[in-house]
Order: sequence, then structure tokens, then C-alpha cells
Amino acid sequence: MIANPNAANHVPIELSIVIPTFRERDNIAPLVELVRAALDGVAWEMVFVDDNSSDLTAQQVWGVGRGDRRVRCLKRVGRRGLSSACIEGMLASGAPYFAVMDADLQHDPALLLPMLARLREAATDLVIASRYMPGGSVGDWDTERVRVSALATKLSRLITRQPVSDPMSGFFMLRREVFEAALPRLSSLGFKILLDLIASSPARLRIAEVPLKFGKRHAGESKLSANVVWEFLLLLGDKLFGRYVPVRFVAFGVVGASGAVVHFAVLSTLFKGFGLSFSVGQGAAVALAMVYNYTINNLLTYGDVSLKGWQWWRGLASFVAICGLGAAANVGIASFLFSRHTLWPVAAIAGIFVGSVWNYAVTSRYTWKT
Ligand code: GDD
Ligand code: MN
Repeated sequence: MIANPNAANHVPIELSIVIPTFRERDNIAPLVELVRAALDGVAWEMVFVDDNSSDLTAQQVWGVGRGDRRVRCLKRVGRRGLSSACIEGMLASGAPYFAVMDADLQHDPALLLPMLARLREAATDLVIASRYMPGGSVGDWDTERVRVSALATKLSRLITRQPVSDPMSGFFMLRREVFEAALPRLSSLGFKILLDLIASSPARLRIAEVPLKFGKRHAGESKLSANVVWEFLLLLGDKLFGRYVPVRFVAFGVVGASGAVVHFAVLSTLFKGFGLSFSVGQGAAVALAMVYNYTINNLLTYGDVSLKGWQWWRGLASFVAICGLGAAANVGIASFLFSRHTLWPVAAIAGIFVGSVWNYAVTSRYTWKT
């Protein structure tokens, strides 16, 4: 008898392992191999979420998936971000338990089974593989990274509201219901998906920890960049104040304030230093400050949807056009209030406020299309 290729597999998947990837081609096959060995007897699947890696990681996963349907890839185009990748991976699965781990073999797949065992006990919602508990370790990190990580762990207490030894771990397992309950409040910014999940959970989670010896990266290189500190602060800000004001607006404002510094530097150099006329200096300062604001916002405030190549130029044009209108509104409102006998600093601040809200709201919609 010939096996029916479309026969349904009636063993439901119990554990879905979500693995965010960015340029991890050479780690895929060894990782799948280790997971297979570690989870013998468990109904698992692996959902890789790849952000269109130039080394063709997605193709590599699909290749492995041709021989094993449990291995899938969700490919995203024009997007970046570890947290949002994990969230979308979980959304693509119906399993009762999710694991999240890195692709580079720094997370030992042998921990998956003991972690799953903890979740199967009804008393646990979330199991964290922790580098900072007895028996765990961070491996070959330099002292600088150890210090930054320890500080971030302390700061994160502000939003977890419960002691967790390693809220930044990239290796954890949780019940589907925990994910679904946190989902509407997730910030999905940056690298710290576990912290985001804990801080977004409406109920206090029952958390278990198992020690993790953080290994050496197998192939490729770390994607952790200078941006993570900024992204961590964005996440912290969003969790603390996001209810009242969008954290991107705050970031946009901070970048704008630093743009004013650029403005004054250019103006004073040209006007005072080179003796050019005030209007020429002011014009050049406005132009440079706009390009500066656009560039920095594109890198930081909108780092996850950064515009590149040809799109970068289109973005710059729309940013300049929109902020030009914002400046006109700013001057118009301030002058109107001033003419109605409002104190001049109050009139100026009102103009700046309306101009910034306009700039933020309209560029987020038309320049970065969020
Ligand atoms: N889809 C997607 N998009 N995946 C990404 C992105 C992205 O923008 N950036 C990184 N990844 C993937 C990597 O391919 C890797 O599988 C995993 O996320 C972790 O990235 P690494 O670059 O290996 O991070 P790390 O080892 O330096 O950092 C580890 O420790 C941090 C805490 O100190 C990770 O476990 C982090 O999750 C953790 O926060
Ligand atoms: Mn890594």
C-alpha cells in the first residue's frame, strides 16, 4: 500500500520552539540536529523567524523542512527586531507550550526537556534558563558587558515587580495562555522579549528558573549592537509611561532637542566663526538639523523599520516636507498667541508643542509608515 502523502498527522504538537534568526545559515542544521536528539519522544516543532537574511538563512530552513515538516520558517521582509520576531513566531503556532531560544547554539537544547517538565507541572507559568543563578554562567563575556548586563538586570526590577535572576535571558519556555494574556500590552521593541512578556502580564506569573551555562556562539556573529542600550531604555520607558504618552514620541522629542544643539553649533560656526550673514547661517543650520534629525530618528526611534537605499531618500524628502509644514504651524500658532497677549515664552512653547506633535504624528504615518 502507498502511504497517502496528505494523510493528517494526528499527534498534536505540544511544544513549539521559536527561533529568531538574522544571518544564521550555518547554525540551522546543527541546531535542528541537537533539538531532535534532545526532544526524542516529544511532539515538537521549530518555527524560525528570519528577517530576510542576506546569507539565505530562510532558504536553509526551508531546505531542512523539506525533509522534516516540523521545521518551518516565517520570513519577514523590510522588518528588523528580535522581540517582534519571537512574537510573530508564537502567533504562527497553536501549540500549548512555547520555547524561545537563539539559533547560535549558545543556548543548550538539552535544557528543553527539563524546562518542559517544569511547565507540565500545573504550578508553573514560565521557565527561564538563567545565567545568573547558582550553576549558571555567562561564558566568555568581557567585564564591560557583564557590568552593563548587571545594571540592566537591576533596572528591569522597576517593571517586573518580582525578583527574577535573569529577566534578559533569550532562552525561556511558557504556557500559551501566558503569551495570549500579555499580547495586547506587549511593546515588542528591541531585544528583551522575556522582560517585555513578564512586564506585560496582567497576572503575577509563577516563574521557575533553571541554570544556563551560556555557551560559545557556533557560526556567524552577534547582532547585539550599541543600539541595545537605547532599545532597552525605550522598552523601560514604554512599560513605565507608555500608558500616558507613546515612547516613540518621547524618543522623537529627545532627538529633536539634540537637533537644536546641532542647529546652534552650525549657526554659531557660520555666523560668528566664518562671518556669514545670519540668514545664511540660520538657513544652513535648519537644513543640517533636519537631515540630522531624520538620520538619527531613522536609526534609533525607528530602528526596527529603518529606511535604507532608495527608500532613505524618499523618507528624507517626506520628512523635510512634513517638518517644513510643522515649522510653519509652529510659527503661526506662536505668533497668533503672542498677538493675543500671551507671554512670549508660553507662546513659543505652545508653538513648539503643536509643531512637534504634528511632525511626530505625520512622519510616523508617512515617512516611516508605522
Ligand atoms: N529575526 C531576527 N531579527 N532575529 C534576530 C535579530 C533581528 O533583528 N537580531 C538578532 N536576531 C537573532 C539572532 O540571529 C540569534 O538567533 C538571536 O536573535 C540572538 O542574537 P545574538 O546576536 O546571538 O545575541 P547575543 O548572543 O549577543 O545576546 C544574547 O544575550 C542577550 C542577553 O544578554 C541573546 O540571548 C539575547 O536574546 C539576550 O537578550
Ligand atoms: Mn548569541
